[in-house]
Amino acid sequence: MKAQTEFIHWLRSAYAMEKARELVLARQRDDEKAPPLFRQQAARHLLDTQRHAAIVAACLHDLGASASSLRNTLARGVARMKNAARHTTGDRHISALLSACASEHFEIACFSALRTCAQRLGLSQFALTCGEIIREEKRMAAWLEQHLPKIVSACLDLREMEKSPAKKARQFIDFIHLRHRDY
Ligand SMILES: [Fe+2]
Repeated sequence: MKAQTEFIHWLRSAYAMEKARELVLARQRDDEKAPPLFRQQAARHLLDTQRHAAIVAACLHDLGASASSLRNTLARGVARMKNAARHTTGDRHISALLSACASEHFEIACFSALRTCAQRLGLSQFALTCGEIIREEKRMAAWLEQHLPKIVSACLDLREMEKSPAKKARQFIDFIHLRHRDY
């Protein structure tokens, strides 16, 4: 396979990956039962992800890739994201959090590979753009790593609230406190 053909193949996969992440992040942003801290960050990173998909689509367009091939790769991207989520824990919010961690690190690896390939092909502007995307993906991965304990704890508190009416009032106050302290 010629280097540029392979590069286009990777770009299509990256586009599918980012479009699939858009769907997941939008669902997390709109999930009223998810921890508010997580919802707000999902909304922020959704904007980054939409921009990343548009950048990759523009590069594909410049290289002559067709729109129909983009639609085909989207279906594969969604299936891959669903598959990643299937192997995590039972609580759906914690599961979403763990899947997000895995996805962000996978995105970092994909855009790093794309940057290397772009440099070898002389596509220096796209290589620079990949560097910017990688920085944003790393920022999201770092945010997830930093906030994971707090979000998991909030999920467990919520679960206990549902199980134990006696603890409901105190834990509800703690949950609201967490919600406002981190905004
Ligand atoms: Fe991302």
